[in-house]
Amino acid sequence: LANFKATNEPILQFLPGSQERKDVEAAVANFQSAQTDIPIVIGDEEIRTNQVKYQVSPFDHQKQIAKYHYADGNLIQKAIDVSLKARHDWERAPFEKRAEVFLKAADMIAKERRGEVLASTMLGQGKNLIQAEIDSGPELIDFLRFDVEYALELMKYQPISEGSIHNSMVYRGMEGFWAAVSPFNFTAIGGHLTSAPALMGNVVQWKPSDTAMLSSYTVYKIYREAGLPAGIINFLPSDGPVFGDAITASPDLAGINFTGSVRTFRHLWKQVANNLENYRSFPRLIGECGGKNFHFVHKSADVDSVVMGTIRSAFEYGGQKCSACSRAYIPQSMWPEVKQKLVNIQKEIKLGSALDADTFLSAVIDDKSFDRIKGYLNHAKSSDNLEIVAGGNCDDSKGYYVEPTIIETKDPQDTIMQQEIFGPVLTVYPYPDDEYKSVMNLVNTTSPFGLTGSVFAKDQAIIDEVHDTLIQAAGNFYINDKSTGSVVGQQPFGGARNSGTNDKAGGPHYLLRFLSPQAVKESK
Ligand code: ALA
Repeated sequence: LANFKATNEPILQFLPGSQERKDVEAAVANFQSAQTDIPIVIGDEEIRTNQVKYQVSPFDHQKQIAKYHYADGNLIQKAIDVSLKARHDWERAPFEKRAEVFLKAADMIAKERRGEVLASTMLGQGKNLIQAEIDSGPELIDFLRFDVEYALELMKYQPISEGSIHNSMVYRGMEGFWAAVSPFNFTAIGGHLTSAPALMGNVVQWKPSDTAMLSSYTVYKIYREAGLPAGIINFLPSDGPVFGDAITASPDLAGINFTGSVRTFRHLWKQVANNLENYRSFPRLIGECGGKNFHFVHKSADVDSVVMGTIRSAFEYGGQKCSACSRAYIPQSMWPEVKQKLVNIQKEIKLGSALDADTFLSAVIDDKSFDRIKGYLNHAKSSDNLEIVAGGNCDDSKGYYVEPTIIETKDPQDTIMQQEIFGPVLTVYPYPDDEYKSVMNLVNTTSPFGLTGSVFAKDQAIIDEVHDTLIQAAGNFYINDKSTGSVVGQQPFGGARNSGTNDKAGGPHYLLRFLSPQAVKESK
């Protein structure tokens, strides 16, 4: 293992009749044939409570695909106690043993279990086949494999020893436990928020998203079948505030690995701050909290790249990637052509069930999302500054469907240009060509976020200038490419400002957060 090198798992094509296509279809049919009953898992014990919830398919909300059980505060405390007992042997196990578990899980997902993980993501989170593949296939597999390579690299460092003095660095996990709070929009994120701390020798309490329960449980079972010992990661479906209160009240909290809303992350941070005297160690907080991602287009840009990049970034998975473009700045001279092309493609986009082969985007995740997005559409309909140039309708009678929507704004500071929408809504500000400098500054200051952004231009001096001006506006910055689709090992992912702590998941530095090394000096 010492020289293990990871390579990116290829994206499969799922051609009709191919084995991978048959596997997904069989897994979808299997999940549809009977509702999955998902327990709480603490150590080796599966627990079912009388606080029961149901996960529905977003594109057909009468279909309950899974039933799950909520853990209360007492069960969460029990999970903490169980994992603190399991921690001793796990932390002291050779790194290779821990790595073997996650490499085996990666191989299982890459081969025999891929169909199952993809199907659970399609049914539960409303991803079409290719979006489910990108997420629950290569992204998750890559996280598991690249982390092993990075960890080995990180732990190569040993200090200098001289004469009769021997110095060494012992790479320990952290005392106590980590808590992982994962979102609905990427199955890979839940898998990684838990695998990374565990790989580095920690124990983890996992609160999966209610709307990603089936895929989270599928991944969890694979980790256990791959050899993850009982109690190292406990699976704890629960109410957010109940989970947050229980973990932040524990003196053994080592850290929180969070992806979700800014509001919740701030709340958890305050709870930690309020309890600071009671912790054994200073808890570490890692957060990824959304964005208001931009495409900034210069008049030297290639029109077709702008159009395709923007359609894909704004509308793939219904704009529900944290990296999705939701505001675009386009020179007025270019706008009529870009608009025409965007509208033509928008008309062709198939909105439908995530299970249909020709669906480009499906329903948004749930009723809360639907209502929030509808609020923005209503704002666009009632504002004099905003004009809907394509889409604008929504219908939740069968699923939470929102048309891919393109809005033109006269006001670059409208709330629709500032706030995260997390839906298939793109707003464009056509700007006077010669005002690109002031518009660039606007891009930097309009929203509180700093996750992803793109510049489209052919002129290198312009690219450099935009990059320099927007250096803090995007943790992931793209040049002549869409703002979505970071690849593990190629574009480590994360943003600063209100987007989070920018610890760069899918890169080597992320893993440092889960280590608490000990320096040892020995006089011989
Ligand atoms: N890897 C995901 C993206 O960049 C988060 O869209």
